[in-house]
Formats: sequence, structure tokens, C-alpha cells
Amino acid sequence: MHDRINVALIGSKFMGRAHSNAWSKVTKFFPGDLEPAMHTVVARDAESLAAFARTWGWRRPTTDWRLAATDAAVDLVDIATPNHLHAEQAIAALEAGKHVACEKPLAGTLADAEAMAAAAERSSGRTFVWYSYRRVPAVALAHRLVAAGALGRVYHVRAAYLQSWGGPEAPLVWRFQGDIAGSGAHGDLGAHIVDTVRFVTGEEIVSVEGAIEHTFIEERSLVEGGGGGEIAGAGAGTTGAKGKSTVDDAVMFLARMSGGALASFESTRLATGYHNANRFEIHGEKGALRFDFERMNELGFYSKEAESAVQGWTTIDVTRGGDEHPYAEAWWPDSHGLGYEHTFINQAADILAVLGGGEPRVPLPDFADALRTQRVLHAAVESARHRSPISLHEGTSS
Ligand SMILES: NC(=O)c1ccc[n+]([C@@H]2O[C@H](COP(=O)([O-])OP(=O)(O)OC[C@H]3O[C@@H](n4cnc5c(N)ncnc54)[C@H](O)[C@@H]3O)[C@@H](O)[C@H]2O)c1
Repeated sequence: MHDRINVALIGSKFMGRAHSNAWSKVTKFFPGDLEPAMHTVVARDAESLAAFARTWGWRRPTTDWRLAATDAAVDLVDIATPNHLHAEQAIAALEAGKHVACEKPLAGTLADAEAMAAAAERSSGRTFVWYSYRRVPAVALAHRLVAAGALGRVYHVRAAYLQSWGGPEAPLVWRFQGDIAGSGAHGDLGAHIVDTVRFVTGEEIVSVEGAIEHTFIEERSLVEGGGGGEIAGAGAGTTGAKGKSTVDDAVMFLARMSGGALASFESTRLATGYHNANRFEIHGEKGALRFDFERMNELGFYSKEAESAVQGWTTIDVTRGGDEHPYAEAWWPDSHGLGYEHTFINQAADILAVLGGGEPRVPLPDFADALRTQRVLHAAVESARHRSPISLHEGTSS
């Protein structure tokens, strides 16, 4: 391994921009032994890709993802394409001995996710999954507080990811096509909250006790010429014809955690009034935590160990490096808040730390870890379709 690491990014729209920004800034804020070089970038349209490469400083644009995944000059393949492509691209890169950082969910289907985890096990490359909300400083602090015993035994977990862009006006972009996305709000938003709950509590989901999935909008306008780069397909041309949406708009499920806690999960693209309310509340015997990404610099903490007359919810402004708030030391003075893009820069810093032989600031999910989240997602769908509880054992989903 040289001290420069050549990165090849596949995908140039929403996540393509977030990752390009992360690779271009990471060593400016997190100086380390390993420098990422923005070597190759891949997308399907050569003309717009050339402009993208110039804007972000990628040296070699190409429409050939196999070249990026297998070129001897490339060390790390960063996958930011729709879910049905993750398996083929990641497995090719792993077989070529590359490190792979793949967007979430690990895949659209459990079978793809299993094949990816198996390829990771066989490969000399390291794997990472962009469950980027782990790197919101408030979420990372919640993880550390639970690990330090601040909540004691966990009784209840309530997780919800609420967006509202999926109304009838949203056209049939790939996120509504089951053969591409795998599922709808469930794999898109539910994947994040399942990962976050596993990460913050340190517990696994051992059973899904019941679930509901629903598609409210069954037909949507067909898109002309792509529509990537904007989650709701805003600005995309439509043909006037309609096609069938083949994914859920909302999924809710109940689960048991390995420490005995009861948990509820709710994901929807139809929560009018919320745009990116990625939330959890966790209640334990000694205290509780609450978080909402729409106020991402804050973590709510309630301690039952405080004197009873002054017990109440404390809003922690998680921006203080001097108080060892995760990632804060790399950024700005106290209360000079962070935004969405910082979560990706923080993750790029941890990926480089691991590839340089060090430790991430908080645990990074690899393919084996993300497969556990995928099993939970799969079990919730099975539970909804069969109207039955599903228990999760390591290596199975039923
Ligand atoms: N971590 C997060 O919070 C987060 C947020 C949004 C999306 N995502 C994930 O990121 C991935 C990409 O989502 P997005 O919102 O960037 O999608 P997008 O539609 O904005 O961009 C997809 C990109 O993939 C490219 N692409 C499509 N087919 C291709 C092919 N055959 N070969 C090469 N490139 C191809 C497109 O040209 C485009 O550049 C998805 O897995 C999604 O779930 C994660």
C-alpha cells in the first residue's frame, strides 16, 4: 500500500456528488498518512461525466465501470449506483483485490447481499458501507453513551424515517422500480434506521414480530431520459404515459432486540410535513436518548441519575471538540454546526484511517455487518407478506 490511494467512483449524481465532495475535502480536515487521489470516475453519459470530472477534479472519466473496478492502478472502488448494480460491481472489484466502499442498502435483494458478503470474505480487499448517519456526531455520541452504560438495560426503541417527496406527482424514477431498487421506503430509509438502531444500542434484531407494507400510489408518470440526481425526480421529463410502481411507499414493523428490548420501525415517503426526519428514541433503565436528523447537531439525553428535582431532557449541542464530541475536533469552534455533507467526509476519514492500519472513530459497517441489516429488511417484508413473525438466526432469515 502506498501512502496515496487511488479511488475510482462509480455514479455521478446525488451520492456521486456527496462522495466526490468527501474525497476532495477529507485530508484538508483530517490530515492522515493516507491521501486519496481522485483517479477515475464512471457514469453512463460521457458528455455530462466529462463536466462532472472537471468540476470535482477526477482525473479520468470513463463510461466503463469494469475498467474502474479492475484497473491495476485503482486501490479503492466507491460504488454510488442504484441498488441492483451493487453486487455485480462490488464482486468484480473484490475479485480484482480492490477495497470497496459501497452505498447502502448493501443490495436490493438478500441474495445479492449474501453474494457480496461471501465475495468480501474471499477477497484481500476491505469493505465499507456508506451508512453515513453513523457519522453524524450526535449519533456517534449516542453510540458511545450507550456503550458506556448511560442507559443501562434498554427497554424500548422507537425509530422512524419520515420523508414526504413520494406523492402522486413524483415520477417513476428508479426508486419506484422494484427490479432496480429492491424495495421502496423500506430499503431506502428503513435500511438507515435499522443500521442506526443496531449501531447505537449495540444489540441485534433477533425477530420481527409483525409488519405492514403498503403502496399508496400504484401508477406514476414514466420518465424520459433518466432523472438521476434528484431523489424525487424533480425536473425529469415525463412521457405522459404511466407505469406501475412496484415498491412500497411505507413499511412499519415491530421487533425484539438481543438484549430484550422491544423496537418499532417506521419508514415512509408520504409523511407530509417532514423532509428528512430520521429519528430515534431509546429508553433504558437509567436514562433515555432522542435524535432527529432535522436538528442534526443536537442529541436529547435524559438521566434518571440526576437529582430528581432537576431531572428532565437535556439538549446537547454536539459540536464541542473540547468535550470529545465525535468528529468535532476536526471541524469548527463550538456551536458552529455541521451539515449533511460532513457525515460523508467523516466516513471518508474513517475509511482512510482503517486502510492506513488505524481505527475508525466509531465502528464502520463492512459487508458482513450490512448483511445483518439486509436480513432484517428481508424478514420485515416476509413478515408483512405472510402475516407472521419471523425469527432471525445468524445465517438465515426464517
Ligand atoms: N448514504 C445515504 O444517505 C444515501 C443517500 C441517497 C442515496 N444513497 C444510495 O446511493 C446509491 C445511489 O443513489 P443516488 O441517489 O446517488 O442515485 P442517482 O440516481 O442520483 O445516481 C445514480 C448514478 O448511477 C449511475 N448509473 C446508473 N446505472 C449505471 C450503470 N449501469 N453503470 C454505471 N453507472 C450507472 C447514474 O449514471 C448516476 O450517476 C443508491 O444505492 C442509494 O440507495 C445513499
